[in-house]
Order: sequence, then C-alpha cells, then structure tokens
Amino acid sequence: MTDQSVRRLIISAALTLAAVFLAVGAVRGYDLTLLIAGTIAALGVSVVIYLQVPSMSDDEVELEVAMKKLGGGESPDKVRLVAIGELADVKHAFNEMAKRVGDRMRQATAELSHLELMLQSVADAIIMVDRHGEIVHLNQAAERMFHLKEKAVGRTFIEAVRDHEFDSLLKKCLSSGSRQEGTIEVRPGRRVYDVTVSPLPGEPGAAMVIRDLTEIKRLERVRRDFVANISHELRTPLASLKLLAETLKAGACDDPAVAADFLGRIEVETDKLTQMVRELGELSRIESGESPLVKKSLDIVPFIEKVVKRLRPQADRAELALSVETVPGLKPVPADADRIEQVLVNLIHNAIKFTLPGGKITVTAATTPVGVEISVKDTGVGISPDDLPRIFERFYKADKARSGGGTGLGLAIAKHIIQAHGGDIRAESYPGKGAKFTFTLPG
Ligand SMILES: Nc1ncnc2c1ncn2[C@@H]1O[C@H](COP(=O)(O)OP(=O)(O)O)[C@@H](O)[C@H]1O
Ligand SMILES: [Mg+2]
Repeated sequence: MTDQSVRRLIISAALTLAAVFLAVGAVRGYDLTLLIAGTIAALGVSVVIYLQVPSMSDDEVELEVAMKKLGGGESPDKVRLVAIGELADVKHAFNEMAKRVGDRMRQATAELSHLELMLQSVADAIIMVDRHGEIVHLNQAAERMFHLKEKAVGRTFIEAVRDHEFDSLLKKCLSSGSRQEGTIEVRPGRRVYDVTVSPLPGEPGAAMVIRDLTEIKRLERVRRDFVANISHELRTPLASLKLLAETLKAGACDDPAVAADFLGRIEVETDKLTQMVRELGELSRIESGESPLVKKSLDIVPFIEKVVKRLRPQADRAELALSVETVPGLKPVPADADRIEQVLVNLIHNAIKFTLPGGKITVTAATTPVGVEISVKDTGVGISPDDLPRIFERFYKADKARSGGGTGLGLAIAKHIIQAHGGDIRAESYPGKGAKFTFTLPG
C-alpha cells in the first residue's frame, strides 16, 4: 500500500468514526457538549497520526513508477530518469543499474541465440522434456528424424514420437533421475539409433540425444562384405593355380600336350587375377577422386558406332544380333571418352554374356531435357527382382555360372564413372525377358 493511500484511509476512517460517534450519542441522548468535545479530540489525534505518515515527493513517485516498470518486465532501455532535482544521485544510480541490467539481458539473449544456433546445427536429434514428459524444446534434426511437422512443443513425448522404446528410456530416466543409454532399432533392419537420456541439471526433466547410426552401420557392413568378397574371389583362382602347379610337379609336365593345356589354364587364372587387381585399383582411384575425368565434347553417334564395331566379333561368335538405333540431332556432351567407352563396353559385354544364341542386343541413344541417354537392351536371361537392386554393388554376381569368370566389379565401376559425370545409371529387367541398362550424361 502506498503512503498516499494510507493517508486517505486515515482521514476517511476518522471522519466516519466521528459521524457514527455523534449520531449514536445523539440518539441515545448523551450530553452534546461532551460528545462534541470527544469528537474534536478524536479528530485531533487523527490529524496527528496523519501528519506522522510521510508524504512522497514527485521524485520519489517517479522512482517508484520506474522501479515498478522495470519489475514488470519493461525493457531497461526504456526506463530512464532525468537525473535532476533532490534525488538526482539516486536517479543517476538507478539509470546506471538499468543500463547494466539492459547489458546483461542483451548478453544473455546473445548467448541464448548462440546456443540455439548450435542446437539447431547439430546432426543429432535433441529433445528436452519436463517432469511430465512434455516436450519443452527440440531441434530441427529431431523434427526431421521423427517427421514432426505440426508443433511438438507442449505435447507429450509419446504423443509426438509414438515409439515405446524411446519413451521407456525417457521414463526410466525421469523416474530414476539417472542417465540412460541404449541402441534402438526401428523396424528391424531398417534404422538404428544410439540414444542417451540425461536428467536436466537443477530442474526436473530430461534431455534426449539421438544419433542415427544407420549409415555408419551400412558402411561397416559394406566394408565387411568387401573384405569377405575379396578373399573369396582370390581363393578360387589361387586354389586352381595351386592345383595346376601341383599336378604339373607330380609328372604332368612330362606329357607336352597336358603341360601346354595346364600352362594355358595357369595363364587364364593369372589373367583373371590381374584383371581383378586392375579393376579394384581403378575403382578405388575413381572413388578417391585420384584420377580426375578428362572431359571433352563427345559426339555420341560415332562414339557408339566405334564401340559396337569393336565388340561385333564377340557378338557374332555368340550368335547374337547387335544393332544401333539413334535419333537424328543428338547434341555432343562433355564426357571422358575413355571412361564412357569402358562403361559401354561392360554393358554390351554383359549383354553378350547373359543372352542365349539367337538373341538380340540393341544400343540406343536419345536426347533428354538435360542431355543424352544411352541404353543397352538384350533379350537374355534377365535379372530376378531380388538381384536387381544389388547388381551395382562390388563383386555382386547374380548368376555365377554365366558370369564367365567376371569379377562382378564392372557395374560398380560403371556406376562410379557415370556418377562422376553427373549422370545416373539404372537397370530394368525381368527373369527370362532380358535386361535393359540405361545411363544418362548431362549436356
Ligand atoms: N545384361 C544382363 N543380363 C542379366 N544379368 C546381368 C546383365 N548385366 C549384368 N548382370 C548381372 O549383374 C552382375 C554384375 O555385373 P558386372 O558388375 O558387370 O560383373 P561381371 O560382368 O563381372 O559378372 C552379373 O554377374 C549379372 O548377374
Ligand atoms: Mg561385367
């Protein structure tokens, strides 16, 4: 209560009491002189009390108003006093204090926005909840990870995320107040997350940090498979070489015809190994960007015709019809001719390997809105839907018998070369209905 209101209360209380006193006295017939004397005495005491309560100066009122504004949350920059009058020093000190409060608030706001920026820039999802499990804060990574399109703040974690495994870790942390860690697999085999839930320091609630391990796990698997595949691929030719050498040593070399046959087979196995080592080296060079592309303007039609001419003897030997279909007006594209030749040779070579005699292979080229598209289509054995998504992986061979000692690296290399050109490569096929491989080259 302010001093002014205390003073107003005293006056009104004294006047009311005097009026009541006089009225009651008059009704009851008390001595009027005595009554008036009593009333005057009471009013006198009230005036003394009234004078005891200090009245506020304009300066004090101004200060009081300013402090209330500051306390009420008004920006300290707007609460400034003109430092003149009796309380000039106090007003000056107040202004200094308001300025410092303003500076601290600005500093705190800047720190908060830095923290917010950091929180939003990390790849890990971060979600903070209060003691009831209601989301109070989350970053963009969390919104993306859990597809939280509408506002998640204010909803409970389970309502927003709808995953009981995450929720049970969170609940354990909230009820025990201790840090919880775990690995959660969502839709088994699909996505793997590393989760840490920590209690918030000094207040009830928890912070959950979720890292998506799916890609790391996939790369680990690819590396493991790669090592396993490479040792498998080496084992077969090495075992053949060992056997051939042992047989020769055991006396086969005494028969010139047998010896010649064995030496020929040794040569084939060694060639296979050499080819594999060459292709592996090439793959790693392309992947690491060690041998950059040498792009020049490539005239598509003469280029395709040259490659087809080179492979025609092989197609003839396999009794396959190999034809080229192009459209007029194909514009040249910037490309590394040697590398694209390697891709096209592998595609046509594969078509020859996987098509039965009497079949047909067609190489086509067409214009697309962004460049050109080259396809190799055959009427061969085709690829099963299970194998189709995997044929561009290193060493993947769907039909080992037909692969004719191929390394299974050709399509992996082709994919890298095409991607390095900014294009893409895809396969369409049905078992028994042949296959069609298409790659694009941007213009
Ligand atoms: N035209 C095709 N028809 C059927 N299967 C194919 C064809 N091209 C590729 N494939 C499948 O894809 C696998 C991988 O091809 P590639 O990487 O060139 O290796 P490779 O030719 O050494 O076997 C082949 O082993 C085969 O199973
Ligand atoms: Mg091949």
